[in-house]
Amino acid sequence: MRRVGGEGARSSFADDVRRGLTATPKFLYPKYFYDELGSRLFEAITALPEYYVTRSEAEILRARAGEIVAALGGPLWLVELGSGDGQKTRLVIEALLARQETLEYVPVDISESAIETSSRSLLLSYPDLRITGYIGEYHAALRMIRKERVRPGRTLVLFLGSTLGNLDPKERLAFLRDVRNLLNPGEGFLLGVDLEKPESVLIPAYDDPLKVTAAFNLNLLVRIDRELGGGFDISTFRHRALYNGAEGRIEMHLESRRDQTVPIRGLGLEVSFAAGETIHTESSYKFRREQIAALAAETGFELRRTWTDSRGWFSSNLLIAT
Ligand code: AVJ
Repeated sequence: MRRVGGEGARSSFADDVRRGLTATPKFLYPKYFYDELGSRLFEAITALPEYYVTRSEAEILRARAGEIVAALGGPLWLVELGSGDGQKTRLVIEALLARQETLEYVPVDISESAIETSSRSLLLSYPDLRITGYIGEYHAALRMIRKERVRPGRTLVLFLGSTLGNLDPKERLAFLRDVRNLLNPGEGFLLGVDLEKPESVLIPAYDDPLKVTAAFNLNLLVRIDRELGGGFDISTFRHRALYNGAEGRIEMHLESRRDQTVPIRGLGLEVSFAAGETIHTESSYKFRREQIAALAAETGFELRRTWTDSRGWFSSNLLIAT
């Protein structure tokens, strides 16, 4: 296991919280959702009936993983960005191990606990797997992987779950170019992208009646309390999910129920909230199919093929480095 960033990453949580909570409007980055509890809450979200994202992508991979890896030739090694609990990865790993004897798997995730738990369980299921995990952010991890990994074959990069949707348009291009830089022409990038759909489907997926997504969102404040000596009273904030049609994205916010001032001892900071004021904690962009081809072309890829689930809600896109 390789840790990317280390101490620097710890202090950037403090810096980013200070920056986000002193900005107007207030914001926090979604990457900070994924502490140990946050990663588990996200796994719980993926099991909710309203959260169609994970299930739709799994449907595609169950039907198509064989076809997808066959399109690439081989032997392949696998780099996965934002690997999380690794459940959908199994479908790709099985397709690859049906075509080659061994497989090198390099998961990258911000959550150490997620990498540890998923790697342990993957190794139990697949003895022919070799795993080296990178804990940290994509940009730094991709740079390290490019520098230090000896490639045991052609590269396939996975970025599933529509995590691309967390990035704003500028970050999105920079990220895709980072991935492109790891690849040689002809190598593959499997990109999971959530598609535009009616608000009546989107809103319950991000504001479920069991309130699991609310807990996932509010856990950011719990984390600030624990790690930075914050004094948030969680019961004075509520989870909000809304569809921003102009930007084509779901937004999650934490809304203060009243006027209040919250101390954050570790930052030597007092943060004031007006009643109804929000902290923007996540954007989750939804895409049109033409957008995906355009993004690919802009960042050094050709969109070879798109597969969708039976409802046409989610897309798996095979990009080839040009
Ligand atoms: C992991 C970023 C893909 O945006 O759908 C789930 C995170 N946020 N419910 C998403 C999330 C609220 C998820 N991604």
